[in-house]
Amino acid sequence: MPNSTPPSFFDWLKQKKEQLKSVSVSAETDLLWLAKSILGEQWSWGSSIEPSEEQMTELESLVERCLAGEPVAYILGEWEFYGLTLKVGPGVLIPRPETELVVDLALKQYSRGEGLSLADFGSGSGCLALALAKHLEPSSLFAVEPSEQALQILNENVKSHSAACIRILPCRVQDVVDQIQDESLDLIVANPPYIAENDSDVGQWVHKYEPHVALYSENQGLKDIEDWLAVSLKKLKAKGRYYFEIGWKQSEAVTSLLKESDGWNLIEIVKDYSGHPRVVVCEKAES
Ligand SMILES: C[S@@+](CC[C@H](N)C(=O)[O-])C[C@H]1O[C@@H](n2cnc3c(N)ncnc32)[C@H](O)[C@@H]1O
Repeated sequence: MPNSTPPSFFDWLKQKKEQLKSVSVSAETDLLWLAKSILGEQWSWGSSIEPSEEQMTELESLVERCLAGEPVAYILGEWEFYGLTLKVGPGVLIPRPETELVVDLALKQYSRGEGLSLADFGSGSGCLALALAKHLEPSSLFAVEPSEQALQILNENVKSHSAACIRILPCRVQDVVDQIQDESLDLIVANPPYIAENDSDVGQWVHKYEPHVALYSENQGLKDIEDWLAVSLKKLKAKGRYYFEIGWKQSEAVTSLLKESDGWNLIEIVKDYSGHPRVVVCEKAES
């Protein structure tokens, strides 16, 4: 007679972990987050907590969504960045760990209590703006973002983290014009859209689920990088700094852009934890 005993919860998890490997490089962590969201923060691998029938149905449905390629961050509706829990959802880029390097570098240079004026270009979820608001307590911080969907989430994150210094500007960086006074900013940070439209390295689930306005830029991914450099030059004080993320193959092109303009001193291009050139640090030259 065939054995009809249903698999134990642990066996079921093991089976799903194997299946998830076909869509995710972090199958075990994905499953951990999903299980915690249903069974409670205290659940972990090897835990004796077993799901009720209702919880099992909910968990099965979340795992099915994940198996269809939907990012865990969107399924959970929140994600961690620099120790902050942020709301995320379709229409906003999921904050990436390598972007935390922008914050690390800015915090090496600047300290709390300097009365700084800041801007975060292409704010998305507000991850960079909120991390800097928390650690630097600037006197003002402009978060510039044109996407309607992203703006909704950005507003919620700014409210839920009570970041009163952040003023949201619902427009493109190229259209900031009079909303930020010329030569008034000490520091600008950004993670611009920088992927070339034909880039075959982009993961299929990233392309399918994350907003294209957050990912892709014209001119081999350099259009927004170039435009935002020009705006930054107008809005920064002399010796003000601009920290921005780039694609790992763009350091030569970006170095040329900076050298072509006599307004910038390139301080450094810092590698991420995988050894790829990732964050550009440049300073506006004194005229
Ligand atoms: C790569 S995402 C970065 C989001 C967030 N800063 C982060 O690091 O997760 C780029 C963001 O820039 C916004 N964006 C696209 N074009 C823009 C433009 N011309 N001006 C301002 N923001 C723009 C997108 O909507 C998106 O939120």
